[in-house]
Amino acid sequence: VRHALGRQSVILVGMMGSGKSSIGRRLATALDLPFHDADAEIETAAGMTIEEMFRTHGEGYFRDGEERVIRRLLQSGSQVLSTGGGSVISPATRAEIARGGVSIWLHAPLDLLLQRVSRRDNRPLLKNDDPMAVLQRLLAQREPFYAESSLKFESRDAPHEVIVDEILDLIF
Ligand code: S3P
Repeated sequence: VRHALGRQSVILVGMMGSGKSSIGRRLATALDLPFHDADAEIETAAGMTIEEMFRTHGEGYFRDGEERVIRRLLQSGSQVLSTGGGSVISPATRAEIARGGVSIWLHAPLDLLLQRVSRRDNRPLLKNDDPMAVLQRLLAQREPFYAESSLKFESRDAPHEVIVDEILDLIF
């Protein structure tokens, strides 16, 4: 199946908690493609965690790094890339995603996103406010950009393997 993709990448976009990283990793295995997680690559490039970046340099610093890392990754060849939830606010990143291949918006109900992000305390944007209100606000801002994706997948609370099979059906 992967040959049908040619030199295109599969790029996962969507809100935090939508499953981009865990699904992306398995999707890459299924497609026999390299997997990259933009958040993890930004942390490696910056030599600090995303939390530290927000805390010591502010969100703008993180967003600049995010833009550069996503450009570098997508220009490095065909892969499965899971992006950070806010990456699509950058017009340059949206252009890279559009050029890079097949983008998939992992859409999930807000209560599922909330449940998932509540398991870990690693998202600076959710720290100082009611998380549900923040998720709603961010989704309202980003929805038009997520909607530019090649495909939209309606995700839910199901085993990762099931979700991956359904995504493969959607792509091919
Ligand atoms: C963010 C999402 C996070 C991470 C950062 C900001 C966002 O990535 O990039 O905390 O703005 O939605 P995930 O979508 O992988 O959680």
